[in-house]
This record gives sequence, C-alpha cells and structure tokens, in this order.
Amino acid sequence: MNDPRSPAETTALWQRLASASVLLDGFHALKHALRFGAAVPVAVTADRHAALALADELAPDVRSALEALLTEVTPSAYAALVPRPHPTAVAALAVRPAREERLRVLGRAAREAPVVVLDNPRNLGNAGAVIRLAAGFGVTGVVTTGTLDPWHPTVVRGGAGLHFATAVERLDVTELPPGPLYALDPEGADIRGLKLPDDALLAFGSERSGLSGELRARADQLVALPMRPQVSSYNLATSVAMTLYHWSLTATGVPGGA
Ligand SMILES: C[S@@+](CC[C@H](N)C(=O)[O-])C[C@H]1O[C@@H](n2cnc3c(N)ncnc32)[C@H](O)[C@@H]1O
Repeated sequence: MNDPRSPAETTALWQRLASASVLLDGFHALKHALRFGAAVPVAVTADRHAALALADELAPDVRSALEALLTEVTPSAYAALVPRPHPTAVAALAVRPAREERLRVLGRAAREAPVVVLDNPRNLGNAGAVIRLAAGFGVTGVVTTGTLDPWHPTVVRGGAGLHFATAVERLDVTELPPGPLYALDPEGADIRGLKLPDDALLAFGSERSGLSGELRARADQLVALPMRPQVSSYNLATSVAMTLYHWSLTATGVPGGA
C-alpha cells in the first residue's frame, strides 16, 4: 500500500494538530495506543520499511492500521516534528480522550479494579511507569493530585502509550471517586494481612514528602509494604507495582496470566 498522504500534507496536518494532541513518541507508544482504541489522525516515520518490518515482527495485530497511517518523511523533517528523535524513528499524534469520559469511568459505582491515586507526584518518569503498571494489571484508572500533568509528553513516553488502556486524570483530593481508600505508608498495617477490595482507591505519596495531610485525612486505612527497619522507603513506582501485585493475588478480574 502507498503512503496515505504526501509528506508535505502530513507535516502541515501535524503542525495544525500538534498543540491539542497527545504525542506518541516511538513505535511502541503508537502500537499500544492503536491497540487500546486511540484515534490517531497522523503518524510519521523516517523509515517506513523498517517500521512495517517491526510491525511484522512485534505487532502483526496492528500492522494494517500502521500501513494505512504511516507516512514516510525525511529524517530531518521527522526530527523537526519531535522534541527528541526516538530510536524507532516513528511518531504520531492521538486525540486526547474527553475528560468527561474519563470521569465517568473513574466514578462508576461497581468498579471491578482499583483506581491508583498518586498524591502530588513530582517525577514524570515515575508517573509514566505507574500508568504502564496500571494498564498491565487492568486497573480502572490513575488519578494524580497536584500540578504534574499526567498527559505530559514525557509521562506518555514513560507509559509507552498505555494512557489509552486506563483512565488517566488529574483531580483534587476532594474530587476523588468514591470507594474505600487505602493509603500506602511505611507506618501502616502490613499489607500481607490485608485483602485489597476490587473497588479500592490505592493512594501513594509524593517522592519528596510522602502522603499529604489532606490525603491522609480521606484515608480509611494506612498500609505498609514489608521493608527492613534501616530502609526509609521504596521508589514510588515500585511501591505501586508491589501493591497491585498483592491486589491481583485475590482479585477476580485480573487479565492475562501465564
Ligand atoms: C519515595 S516514597 C516517599 C518518601 C518520602 N520521603 C516520605 O517521607 O514518605 C513514595 C511513596 O511510596 C510509598 N511507599 C514507599 N515505601 C513504602 C513502604 N515501605 N510501605 C508503604 N508505602 C511505601 C508511599 O506511598 C510513599 O509516600
């Protein structure tokens, strides 16, 4: 199949859409976004042959979508469209899902999987890693409080385009969805003695200062991950990983499995 648009048309479309769109940086981000239903109006590559060969090898399920979407542009035109060229030389723009739709998903009365709450996270890479975990465990959504934009391009890059597999939103603590709130803190009750319900909110503190007073006040229970006394804390994303794994051991609807 031939390129769907000319390079000049593609570049013009990109420039018109870029500021209001989600940047999908690299082959894997585009692959995941397509798999989870993102609307992708434009995609470029500096090497269409190599991108489609990667699809044959790693993602035959989205190969035909990629073939229809990807326009080859020169390496310099590609580099001019992205902040940092990706090793796969692929980039695309996706339509950001409507906030109302994400709020509807997060606020559902009978959730079958928890919502992860990151209380004022500071590190964009951590936020991306958590969204990737949330997607893998089939979590309902990831809510951040504070000023970090969970749709920042660096977060989307860290999340490998998996923002489209879960509901990602920024909210105030007062706006959190209903449900029992378990806040992770080294001073809490040992997680190994607890069953985390499917409709739980699982909250994690900031890398710098831990859980805010406001979040603690909303918490139903503080929960601790096992840790030797001389160790102060775990990294935020690894704490989320351990907690979701613990939830998955007793959850009813976790996807996948070997
Ligand atoms: C890097 S830690 C925060 C460290 C911070 N300096 C503090 O004073 O709490 C980020 C978050 O990971 C979670 N966390 C880290 N280690 C934990 C543990 N052993 N038990 C429970 N939660 C933990 C907590 O939610 C914590 O707020």
